[in-house]
Amino acid sequence: MGEERGEARKRASGRSRGVSDELAENMLQGWADTERRDLDPIPQAAHTARRRAELSARFPGELLVIPSGNPKVRSNDTDYPFRASSDFVYLTGDQSQDAVLVLEPEPDGSHQAVAYLLPRSNRENGEFWLDYHGELWDGRRNSLAENEQLLGLPCRDVRTLTERLAAATGPIRLLRGYDAAVDAVLTDKVTAERDHEFRVFLSEMRLIKDEFEIADLRHACDATIRGFEDVVRVLGTDSPTPERAIEGTFWTRARIEGNDVGYTSVCAAGPHSTTLHWVRNDGEARPGDLLLLDAGVETRNLYTADLTRTLPVSGRFTPVQRKVYEAVLAAQEAGIAAVKPGASFRDFPEAAQRVLTEHLHAWGLFGGRTVDEAYELGLFRRWTLSGVGHMIGLDVHDCAKARTEMYMGGTLEAGMVLTVEPGLYFQSDDLTAPEELRGIGIRIEDDILVTPEGNENLSAGLPRTPDDVEAWMARLRG
Ligand code: GLY
Ligand code: MN
Ligand code: MN
Repeated sequence: MGEERGEARKRASGRSRGVSDELAENMLQGWADTERRDLDPIPQAAHTARRRAELSARFPGELLVIPSGNPKVRSNDTDYPFRASSDFVYLTGDQSQDAVLVLEPEPDGSHQAVAYLLPRSNRENGEFWLDYHGELWDGRRNSLAENEQLLGLPCRDVRTLTERLAAATGPIRLLRGYDAAVDAVLTDKVTAERDHEFRVFLSEMRLIKDEFEIADLRHACDATIRGFEDVVRVLGTDSPTPERAIEGTFWTRARIEGNDVGYTSVCAAGPHSTTLHWVRNDGEARPGDLLLLDAGVETRNLYTADLTRTLPVSGRFTPVQRKVYEAVLAAQEAGIAAVKPGASFRDFPEAAQRVLTEHLHAWGLFGGRTVDEAYELGLFRRWTLSGVGHMIGLDVHDCAKARTEMYMGGTLEAGMVLTVEPGLYFQSDDLTAPEELRGIGIRIEDDILVTPEGNENLSAGLPRTPDDVEAWMARLRG
């Protein structure tokens, strides 16, 4: 033992790193045992186990590899904030970096799931403090034994994984593109086609949310509503408010109540509201402007809301702003009414776009064309720009790899959660639009759960009608 410690001291001795033997010896001593031995499983452990069982049943006899991903370098030794891959989170509930979930095939066709994770830093060999990413610098990690209790599955040191994968024989499926080292070691053992099938299946698994996910999305919506309220409180009624102040205000709420924003907030004031992906946020919201705020809190479990309101900065819509707002609201109402189990995914966008086309027609935007012609020819799209909705979940554009017949061309089922977000956008330089409409962009976006009976608006707590929006803003400004 004494000899082992001597060896350890030698390894920890950092003469080559400018560390004296005395300091190396000192750093070996005097650390308390902080191991936690009676941890409860994370609340979603039963759900992640069921999800893994579903994945296992689809790919009997195959080794399945799902990395969480590695941090991305921003510059030199500074990384972007890490966010684990959504499929890894979905199947483990864990969010650590450099981790890999492996489903090892069993002879009976089932799998044994193993989470390969970074263990605690070794103190004996000095890794704890001599390694740049040792726990002394980056913070304490869970031990493997602690993670076994929390996640409810066996955990092994991820540094043993390369050897395991290099020795693997038999069919393997890999979620590619997240961990370059894992991709490299498996490069001759996997095929793009089979890995694509794997990715598609994972995406389709997530189409129907379980009760844990629905509860988390509910929480994401509630926190997002509080973020919108914060924004209304900082919006000046007699002086401009920088769009970045709006962005920062919402982000503060996202960090306090959740993990982050689920996507970069669109804080688009005045004519910026006509730019769908306005994320520069370098303008100002002035009284008299509309503010189109598209923002969502991502919870600590990484589920995100995706909500938009278009607010009159002054607190009152002008008549022309109200006219456009009411058209978009009518379209959204028609869209939401078409969300129900058994409906085609295409029904609700069609319902909403039909209503928008009728309003555009009434305002003379289609010249001599009838509503039907304008609709069939898609002429409305000059002013509606985007699709009317998408799935949400762990990703704001969730389930994006699902096959057309399962998603865009598929059928709505209870447990799906999607946005309904029609809009009208009249560019400032659009000479075909009436002058009074130019520079106006309005979107209303809510998050809708498909229920056995029809649907539930998870974001119903955020006012939508013009009168309710005005009353809500007045109340918040006291
Ligand atoms: N915020 C992105 C979207 O509405 O789809
Ligand atoms: Mn959306
Ligand atoms: Mn949105």
